Amino acid sequence: MDDQSTKTPYRSLSVKKCSPHVGAEIGNIDLTRPLNDLELSELKRAFTEHGVLFFRNQKISFDDHARLGEYFGPLGSHVGKKTNSKPSDDPRIRLFHFDEKSERISGNVWHTDQSCAPHPPLGSILYMHTIPPDGGGDTMFSSMYAAYDALSDRMKDYLEGLTAMHDGVPTFGDGTPRAIHPVIVRHPESGRKLLYVNESFTTYMLGVPHHEGLGVLRMLYAHVQKPEFCFRFRWEPHSIAFWDNRCMQHYATDDYWPNVRSGYRVQIEGVVPPKAP
Ligand code: SIN
Repeated sequence: MDDQSTKTPYRSLSVKKCSPHVGAEIGNIDLTRPLNDLELSELKRAFTEHGVLFFRNQKISFDDHARLGEYFGPLGSHVGKKTNSKPSDDPRIRLFHFDEKSERISGNVWHTDQSCAPHPPLGSILYMHTIPPDGGGDTMFSSMYAAYDALSDRMKDYLEGLTAMHDGVPTFGDGTPRAIHPVIVRHPESGRKLLYVNESFTTYMLGVPHHEGLGVLRMLYAHVQKPEFCFRFRWEPHSIAFWDNRCMQHYATDDYWPNVRSGYRVQIEGVVPPKAP
């Protein structure tokens, strides 16, 4: 990341860091109306610098939700054949509604959204209007920059140049894609290296003996969950979390049944994860 840019104060938005490695809460912004050029450029800068942006008290419509996503790229659609989230009445927006009738929730294993796709989403924007009355349903985020930086130089050397299979079939059923991605990726905007394997989708590493690759993957799955790399977001009604799916993993906490947790999500189309260096 450019040191100079982190030192330049924001002129329009308020940007309050949530933890050393993950996230910032964005204030002085109204997402129910189009943003001006300064707001948008500062929002893009904050997204690159902090990896997840959180907003409070934003009562957004489907159009507001889609507009925010489209500032960052065309909206994409979910690649899963069988999912726990559902289409909404608007083809751009996905419904995330769970209640006493839900047998499962979505996302309660650490993951990068749909990394099984050849072009996994750039990011996702989740808006929650209803949250469980007694708490619960927090979303946890982990920085894959911090996870990569904390590896030993020997492990970084071992992983550099390796690739891994990301398989959507075990989670989303037959007909869902599989894709091979680099284990170490360079983020196209920040230029930083990051760890790109996740417990939901990465099934094996190519180019090393199978049992050895599985052992390394298990170690990495435990590593990315270290609290030092994480931040736990507590939802309020009309909060928004907008994560950079290229550098943050997340985990949806499954502790609120039979209460209702309900909202909507859009995802933004991404590109092939670029290998490092
Ligand atoms: C997801 O995994 O995309 C859902 C996150 C959440 O419901 O908090």
